[in-house]
Amino acid sequence: MLGGLSLKWNWRKRREAAGASTSSPNLVFGGDVHVVWEKFCRYFDVEPRIVPLQPGKYTIGPDDVQAHVDENTIGVAAVLGTTFTGHKDDIVGINDLLLRIKRERGLDVPLHVDGASGGFVWPFLYPDSKWDFRLEQVRSINVSGHKFGLVYPGIGWLIFREKADLAKDLVFEENYLGKTDSTFTLNFSTGSSMVLAQYYNFVRYGRAGYTYIMQNMQTNARVLAEKLAAMGRFEIIGPDEEQLPWSRSGSRPTPGTTSSTSPGSSRPSAAGWCRPTPCRRTPRT
Ligand SMILES: Cc1ncc(COP(=O)(O)O)c(C=O)c1O
Repeated sequence: MLGGLSLKWNWRKRREAAGASTSSPNLVFGGDVHVVWEKFCRYFDVEPRIVPLQPGKYTIGPDDVQAHVDENTIGVAAVLGTTFTGHKDDIVGINDLLLRIKRERGLDVPLHVDGASGGFVWPFLYPDSKWDFRLEQVRSINVSGHKFGLVYPGIGWLIFREKADLAKDLVFEENYLGKTDSTFTLNFSTGSSMVLAQYYNFVRYGRAGYTYIMQNMQTNARVLAEKLAAMGRFEIIGPDEEQLPWSRSGSRPTPGTTSSTSPGSSRPSAAGWCRPTPCRRTPRT
């Protein structure tokens, strides 16, 4: 939410400076995002430009995004580790597209990476894979500590590439306790226990510990995937791609019907299976 707000504020500033209209902001993202992005658009009056997913493809890339970007686009949001299949959008490809749009059309459209789950996985499992500030158009990233950071809800981070990527007007200064603090939140008071819990995990595990844990989860997920595949009733979705350490399968189509493969299918839970992460809705195809 806060990342989206900053995109909107900075876009508006750019448009005002150019003497252009600020009445129709839009945000581009895929049908593979978490509901939080649609929530942001509705709460803060931004047109959601939701790129539909293709059958059998559960992430988006530059070809999907291109047609939706224009001078009113406050940013593109790409996911690192989707809620549905655990894969990443083609962040390198989208970054390259936005660089080309900047060069050819003069539109500087920022890329936000939703690393809610993947931000604590990719650095340990795929350290050479670029999805972060190594890519020029990536201006902000959000990560949840209460997912693969291994802490109970709720702690998370929003990280900006540079100070200027956080719109100054969104930050308030207050002095209630004898020193000036900056506040950039939607609510105000919140507990600090998760900060301490996260700090404890950082110190206790360190990089080596998190790497060990993530690799262990990945091994477990792969073994589970092999066993599911061996049953012949499931197909494993994108097992060779970079992915969160879980396996996601869809039931094979029943002969004589169209495909029943759906990462959001509720059948496993109806049968008493528990997924490694709750799946809240089916991505748009
Ligand atoms: C990709 C993605 N983005 C955002 C969120 C929301 O994150 P949080 O629960 O930290 O608000 C989730 C979580 O469930 C998620 O999987």
